Amino acid sequence: MRSLNSNLLIFVLLSHLSCFHILIVPVSAKVFISIDCGSSSLESYTDGNSIEWVGDDQYIQTGEPRNIVTMFSRPWDTVREFPTRKKNCYSIDVNNDKAEDITTVERVLVRASFYYANYDNKSNPPTFNLQFNGNNWTQIVTTMENLATEEVVYSLNHGNTITVCLAQTHRDNIPFISSLEVRSLESDMYSYVDSNYPLFFMSRKAYGTNTIIRFPEDSYDRFWESFGPLRDSSALRRVRNSSPSIKVDVADRIPETLFTTAITLKNSSGGGDYMWSSAKATDRKVPMHFNAYFSEVLRLSSTQKRSFNVSINTFNFNESGFNSYNFGIVNPPYGRALQVRLNNISAESFNSYEVFMRSTNDSTLPPLINALEGYTIGDKLVKGTNSDDVNSLGLLQKSFIQLQDWQGDPCLPSPYTWDWVACDFDPDSPRITALYLNDIGLVGTLPDFNGMDALEIIDLGSNNLTGNIPEFLGTFPKLKVLNLADNNFAGAIPSSLLNNNNLRLRVSGNPNLSTNNTSTNRNSTEPKIPSTSSSKTSITSTIPIIILGSVIIQMFDSIFGLLL
Ligand SMILES: *[C@@H]1O[C@H](CO)[C@@H](O)[C@H](O)[C@H]1NC(C)=O
Ligand SMILES: *[C@@H]1O[C@H](CO)[C@@H](O)[C@H](O)[C@H]1NC(C)=O
Ligand SMILES: *[C@@H]1O[C@H](CO)[C@@H](O)[C@H](O)[C@H]1NC(C)=O
Ligand SMILES: *[C@@H]1O[C@H](CO)[C@@H](O)[C@H](O)[C@H]1NC(C)=O
Ligand SMILES: *[C@@H]1O[C@H](CO)[C@@H](O)[C@H](O)[C@H]1NC(C)=O
Ligand SMILES: *[C@@H]1O[C@H](CO)[C@@H](O)[C@H](O)[C@H]1NC(C)=O
Ligand SMILES: *[C@@H]1O[C@H](CO)[C@@H](O)[C@H](O)[C@H]1NC(C)=O
Ligand SMILES: *[C@@H]1O[C@H](CO)[C@@H](O)[C@H](O)[C@H]1NC(C)=O
Ligand SMILES: *[C@@H]1O[C@H](CO)[C@@H](O)[C@H](O)[C@H]1NC(C)=O
Ligand SMILES: *[C@@H]1O[C@H](CO)[C@@H](O)[C@H](O)[C@H]1NC(C)=O
Ligand SMILES: *[C@@H]1O[C@H](CO)[C@@H](O)[C@H](O)[C@H]1NC(C)=O
Ligand SMILES: *[C@@H]1O[C@H](CO)[C@@H](O)[C@H](O)[C@H]1NC(C)=O
Repeated sequence: MRSLNSNLLIFVLLSHLSCFHILIVPVSAKVFISIDCGSSSLESYTDGNSIEWVGDDQYIQTGEPRNIVTMFSRPWDTVREFPTRKKNCYSIDVNNDKAEDITTVERVLVRASFYYANYDNKSNPPTFNLQFNGNNWTQIVTTMENLATEEVVYSLNHGNTITVCLAQTHRDNIPFISSLEVRSLESDMYSYVDSNYPLFFMSRKAYGTNTIIRFPEDSYDRFWESFGPLRDSSALRRVRNSSPSIKVDVADRIPETLFTTAITLKNSSGGGDYMWSSAKATDRKVPMHFNAYFSEVLRLSSTQKRSFNVSINTFNFNESGFNSYNFGIVNPPYGRALQVRLNNISAESFNSYEVFMRSTNDSTLPPLINALEGYTIGDKLVKGTNSDDVNSLGLLQKSFIQLQDWQGDPCLPSPYTWDWVACDFDPDSPRITALYLNDIGLVGTLPDFNGMDALEIIDLGSNNLTGNIPEFLGTFPKLKVLNLADNNFAGAIPSSLLNNNNLRLRVSGNPNLSTNNTSTNRNSTEPKIPSTSSSKTSITSTIPIIILGSVIIQMFDSIFGLLL
């Protein structure tokens, strides 16, 4: 982790005019974390790009580290694989400052890489799903030898934790991961794209360079790939910018290096068309966003002019024709950088695209371009499971070690919920409706998880829970089933539970629980506990069953049989 992590950028704007507008304090804690999955945190190291890598054991509790027999260097020589569970999640806190009253839009870039290299000797490169913060990300299809990399830029609008989950989707396809990188961005970067939507990386090209540009030239470690070497026969050539310095004041903090070289046509007579095609993109109709970057390389004389019309053309070879999306006319400035955006265009499915530039009639110089980045815009980000529910689940996890390695959103994306919860069907911000914690060895007293007030079923049976039955269990308005049987609860049953006519309560098998007085707590006009159950209770104290409400005993057991 680089020291950026501890940099707090605090802007305090004091209003002198009104005592009511005291402070606007955007605070953002910066992270720059590079996780070498499957390696130990004791083995951190710095790579050739001055990036410090750490092991993954502090970010995940599940899965198995594996070594790869490979010639490739770290981090590609280890993976973490996930042979069990429907989803396994990394959890990374971005902002440790939980200051109230401060709203930040923390925008992050998250990059995940997968290098199979037959690490399991099964020659079976798996396919599985990748998820982030409760959202579907993409399907990962690995191959024997290729590195698969995915990148997403999104805003943490609903919390300070980044979660990245791997979910098994095919039998015998064991998910794994090689590396995970998180870079926080400035909140004004890409802010012209609605922060409720994620940007999925499609391509980023530095046309003027022969090598990849990333950190430290790009402070945010975006990868700007080279357009590749140019053949002698190519109509294109690379040109160096003659300006001694280039002012880069575009919001997206594009590295200056991108503007020191450009690509242009060899033919400088002006006019003419040019086009070149680029990376493979998407197979479904998606909204896309492009940024194109330009800087004039020559100090132009009064008789020179460089002016051209830029478009993106997308092709799907399975369909006839192409679609064209136009950036408009560009006149690159000298000594400065220009960003031209093509925001939220709805592209038909395509498998390649090209940048198309045509000089305008009055241009004396051919078109040039420095860089281009393209993203697809994902579905609206979910809010994630209700935050009161999440906090309450956190209290349970703190109290019981058995629950601690469940990470990621408890409910989302559906159907990848945690094994021991059930959720309602709000696709944006679900509620927890059930806790299934039967017979998993819970020991100790229950924490107060009253925030989960949409709970309908709580099954805590056959554990070793102690202490009094907490009062808060009686506060859940929708609770229908509460199984506390076969534990070590003591004392009396809270009247809030006894008074709840809609509740099926099960408390048998708690030898120290006082079941003597149940009827005295209840509204005397209500039906009494059937005498069979009362006598059973007093005779065989190992199976005292308390029936509340109007449920009769025969139904009770069969209902529990179904529900629990
Ligand atoms: C795979 O095969 C190599 C070479 O035979 C061996 O060193 C390695 O331990 C094997 N890995 C697994 C996971 O079986
Ligand atoms: C997420 O992916 C899963 C599995 O592919 C799918 O069943 C589910 O509908 C998806 N959810 C959303 C919100 O797209
Ligand atoms: C993109 O445009 C569509 C249609 O105009 C709109 O519904 C959608 O919200 C836009 N998306 C973003 C991320 O701005
Ligand atoms: C330059 O482009 C013009 C217009 O397209 C064309 O007529 C001319 O032949 C080209 N010159 C060279 C050297 O390619
Ligand atoms: C730029 O090119 C597009 C697509 O070829 C065209 O529709 C548009 O009219 C052109 N704009 C100008 C100002 O020439
Ligand atoms: C072409 O598209 C059609 C309809 O989308 C699809 O059924 C077909 O498989 C595609 N063919 C190829 C070669 O991709
Ligand atoms: C540019 O020149 C072409 C061909 O001479 C002509 O058809 C077109 O109208 C001209 N465009 C402008 C904007 O002058
Ligand atoms: C429950 O806890 C008590 C005290 O820690 C212990 O003696 C007992 O064996 C435990 N019972 C079960 C079933 O785990
Ligand atoms: C029940 O309470 C008694 C007296 O407080 C105690 O000695 C005993 O250990 C308790 N039994 C259990 C199972 O907790
Ligand atoms: C129930 O009450 C009787 C008498 O009031 C008492 O002796 C007995 O210990 C009580 N049982 C429990 C489990 O508290
Ligand atoms: C039963 O209830 C009465 C009155 O509420 C109370 O005084 C008594 O202690 C209770 N007995 C037991 C065993 O809980
Ligand atoms: C008992 O319940 C009835 C009907 O639900 C209600 O009218 C009455 O006030 C209750 N009595 C007591 C003492 O709570």
